[in-house]
Parts: sequence; C-alpha cells; structure tokens
Amino acid sequence: MDTLCPLFVGNWKMHKDAAGTASFFESFRQLIGSPARCDVVICPTFLGLETAVSATRGTGIRIGAQNLHWAKEGAYTGEISGAMIRASGCSHVIVGHSERRKYFSETNESVSKKTVAALDAGLAPIVCIGEFERKNAGEVIAEQFSGSMGMLTPGQFAKIVIAYEPVWAIGTGETATPETAAAAHRLIRGQAKGRFGEEAANNVRILYGGSVKPDNAKNLMAEPDIDGLLVGGASLDPVSFGEIVNLSTCEASRTSSVSYAKSSMIERG
Ligand code: PGA
Repeated sequence: MDTLCPLFVGNWKMHKDAAGTASFFESFRQLIGSPARCDVVICPTFLGLETAVSATRGTGIRIGAQNLHWAKEGAYTGEISGAMIRASGCSHVIVGHSERRKYFSETNESVSKKTVAALDAGLAPIVCIGEFERKNAGEVIAEQFSGSMGMLTPGQFAKIVIAYEPVWAIGTGETATPETAAAAHRLIRGQAKGRFGEEAANNVRILYGGSVKPDNAKNLMAEPDIDGLLVGGASLDPVSFGEIVNLSTCEASRTSSVSYAKSSMIERG
C-alpha cells in the first residue's frame, strides 16, 4: 500500500498582477522549502501563468489555470484553450468552479466538455461540485457528479481531481465542519464507486474548499476522506498558505493501493 499524497491548491481568482505573482513566489518558496509527500498547485489569473511557471521552475510547485474553453482553437473571442494553457507550462486547470457556474452560466454540460478538453490537452482538471445552500447536498452532489464527470472513461476518471466546495462556505468565513465535509466526501466517493468501481473511488483525490484558513486546515485534513484543500482567500498570502501547506503533513494522508503521487502529478508542459 502506498500513501495517497495530500494536494493543496491555491485559487487566486481575480487577484494579483504579474508583479504580485512574482513577489508571492519569492516569499512562498522560502516558507515551504520542499514539502515532502504533499503536492502544491497554485492557480493565478491567465496573465500570471507564465510568471508563476518561471518562478517555480526547479521546485515541486505546479501551476494551474482557473478556466479553459473546450475547443482547441477557433473564433471564440476572449477565450483560452487547454492546449494554450499546457503550452504555457501548466499541469492543472480548475473546471466548473461555483463562481463560473453562478456568474458565467456554466452548466454540467459545459463543465463536462471542459473536463474532457483539459484531459485531451494533457492537463489534470480539478472539477468542482457542491451545493449552493445548506440543504440537499446529497441530491446536488449526485446530479453534478453524473452531469460533470459521469461520462468520463475509467482511464480519464483516473486523471482528475474532484473539489467539493459547498457554495455557502465560499468566502463567507463559514467553513463546513470537518464532519460535514467528510460526510459529503463520502457521498462523492460513493458516486465514484457506483460509476467507476471501488479502486477508482479509493484513488481519486477529493479536496475540500470553502473558507479554509490556517486554523481549520489541520482538523479538516485529519478526516481520512479529505485528500487535500482548495483554498481561495487564504492562498493570496504566502504566510497563511505556507502555514496551511506546512501544517497538513502526510500524517493526514490515507493509504491507497496505487501510488497516486506518481501517477497523478503531471509534469510541466
Ligand atoms: P475561499 O474560496 O477559501 O476564499 O472560501 C475557496 C474557493 O472558492 O475556491
């Protein structure tokens, strides 16, 4: 049995220009050193990607984008394709974040097309699901799981990361308790098991996101079904994100029948 290595993702949303990106990494690189047995991905804006890729060359830190278009290229003014993101040196891309679903009319259908496009471009999609209000979590999870990733082949499913983000907990300071989050993660794993089988369900990393801070990260990571964290506000500050990464060591990780660390961390483009 190998260890399923925790994954910490920083989602900067529409914050930091190229200069802010460079200065973040100057501090962050020193604060986290070379974290053993944990993976770190930072997702700046599109304009910060190349700066972030250069600033992290030679480190274990990986860079991801926050969105992509499903077409490879074409007449889609204002859009960016997976191949372009990959060519800029990224390994990951967030897909279907609730802010995309809420403000930019993303649906399960567009999320599923983007997930496949990301995989085709050689990126690991971090596919977000989660209920908008503090109710019906089970129903929403089942519907979003099947609509956003249920159509993947088992081989494709093995390459994705899932992020559970209850929308009522995003940017509100109201974190789901570790128990509530873990219960939702078990529901998601149950969906994965039903669709892709037990081994696939055990090997997919499910991250929790929503008002994660240094003071709640450790308790969240103590839950065996929480495999990592998707952090918004607290990832903007190198000190607080560094604390989250450093707090949550591999004590928190669970065992898996395959080496996820080996199979999942895509090299830079
Ligand atoms: P938050 O955002 O940590 O600021 O709540 C999380 C997210 O939206 O990814």
